Amino acid sequence: MSTKQTTTILAVASVATAFTLAVKYKDNQRQKEQLVLETQKKTTAPTCKGYPVIGSLPYVLWHKEKLYEFIAQQMEEMDTLTMFIQMLGRPPRVITIDPEIIEYILRSNFANYPKGLIIRQSLGDLLGDGIFTSNGEVWRYQRKMASHIFNVSNFQNRFTEVFVNELDVICREIFDPKIKTQESVDFHDIMHRYTLDSFALLGYGVELKASTNKEDMPFITSFDICQRNCFERLHSPIARLKEAIQSMYLPFEKTMAYHYKVVHEFSNEIVQERRKKVAEGQEFNDLLYRFMVARNQNGEPLNDQELGDNILNFIIAGRDTTAQLLSWTFYNLMLYPRIEKKLVAEIKTHWPKEIQDPTELLYETLRLYPSVPMATRYNIEDDILPDGTFIKEGTTVAYSAYVLGRSKKIWGSDAKDYSPERWIDKSGKLRRETQGRWPVFSGGPRVCLGQNLAILEAIIAMATMLQKYKFSLVPGQDITYLSSLTFPMKYGLKVYIQQRE
Ligand code: HEM
Repeated sequence: MSTKQTTTILAVASVATAFTLAVKYKDNQRQKEQLVLETQKKTTAPTCKGYPVIGSLPYVLWHKEKLYEFIAQQMEEMDTLTMFIQMLGRPPRVITIDPEIIEYILRSNFANYPKGLIIRQSLGDLLGDGIFTSNGEVWRYQRKMASHIFNVSNFQNRFTEVFVNELDVICREIFDPKIKTQESVDFHDIMHRYTLDSFALLGYGVELKASTNKEDMPFITSFDICQRNCFERLHSPIARLKEAIQSMYLPFEKTMAYHYKVVHEFSNEIVQERRKKVAEGQEFNDLLYRFMVARNQNGEPLNDQELGDNILNFIIAGRDTTAQLLSWTFYNLMLYPRIEKKLVAEIKTHWPKEIQDPTELLYETLRLYPSVPMATRYNIEDDILPDGTFIKEGTTVAYSAYVLGRSKKIWGSDAKDYSPERWIDKSGKLRRETQGRWPVFSGGPRVCLGQNLAILEAIIAMATMLQKYKFSLVPGQDITYLSSLTFPMKYGLKVYIQQRE
């Protein structure tokens, strides 16, 4: 069947399924993100290809595994940095990679661009009213509380100690034995276990020991499945329908309700364990402690549900993003021996004194493989964007760091090349980009709280592992991304390990 035929079939099928959801949106008067088709007439941005009424839905469904490539291609064809996309069953959406617009929505006109109801509806089952999904006072008190743990003393002492210890375990118990047996390991999986163990200990005082656990951990499996499901709910109006009829076409697979339950039981166990220890008189000074003594927007102490939401929000932030940054960085080091050689030489000569090379690499990795490839807001009131685009209230506004990082219009003709040198200024110093051109940590009042922690964790991991080991790719594997909230590798990253001379 040709792509065109398939797209047409998808078009017809999606009318029926998405119609129900569209009606649901229309019925809900409270929400501003209604399906208001007239917005299509009013928005002035070029419109993504699509069909009458159902809009681009069939294309998005067809390209859902490579959504960012589809967006990039559409923008290139229309020669635009901002486009409008309408899909039956979803609020109207503007997608942009224009640095000025990104700065504008994240910073200059922050108040008009909160996280939308679509975020709460799509991510709520996983993240509740945590810091990622909330706005206003609910967001503010969480941000204030969490920011307390990112202080200088924690960075100098506690954080470094935990990262070094966790890596030591991984080297001794996983990497060293594999050198002897010459078996491959999944580097991507190990990095996720490293960052999970580190963050569980730093944030919640829990020793998970995921990195040395030989069994599959139900929490990890379910957490990944839930994230992927949130992504589907965010971008596809038929996601809920698929879930509802899953037992008909996949009768032996666990349902989404099961996976959400596993994840919430995990966070609730951490909360109950901590309450018990506090009742026994133990004292703590970590992220969980901060939230247990905090008051919510109503001036009340946080209940178990709120504490659990908080734990899951920070696990997404603290585990996935940094593990993926490390995985994509090591992947590129294996692809480019020249870059690896220079980095190893620098580490051997200068580490643990401060060195610049790893940071250049990490910035470059984030440019091409951003851990959060696309983020969304929505506008409360009608607005005119800096490029003159008019957008009606209730429009979802998404910006894609992935598409932006690979755009020749923004990053020049070598945009797609992995070139850490681009991060060095004329005087040889590391340069930083504006939040508009490099929104990998977001920007404005909601800029990522953990960026320095992530860079510290990644540099310690790079220096520790590269001093000891040489990694090489297992041939013949397909390295690509999985469409999800963050930027995981779809099939992992299998590597062989040798002792470095
Ligand atoms: C490579 C690592 C990381 C990257 C690329 C990254 C990127 C981002 C991005 C793009 C956002 C905005 C998301 C949105 O608007 O929907 C964000 C928010 C956030 N990040 Fe990170 N992050 C990283 C690591 C971390 C770590 C290690 C932590 C802390 C443990 C952390 C804590 C947070 C928090 C709390 C927010 C929410 C801020 C708010 O809404 O006020 N991040 N991060």
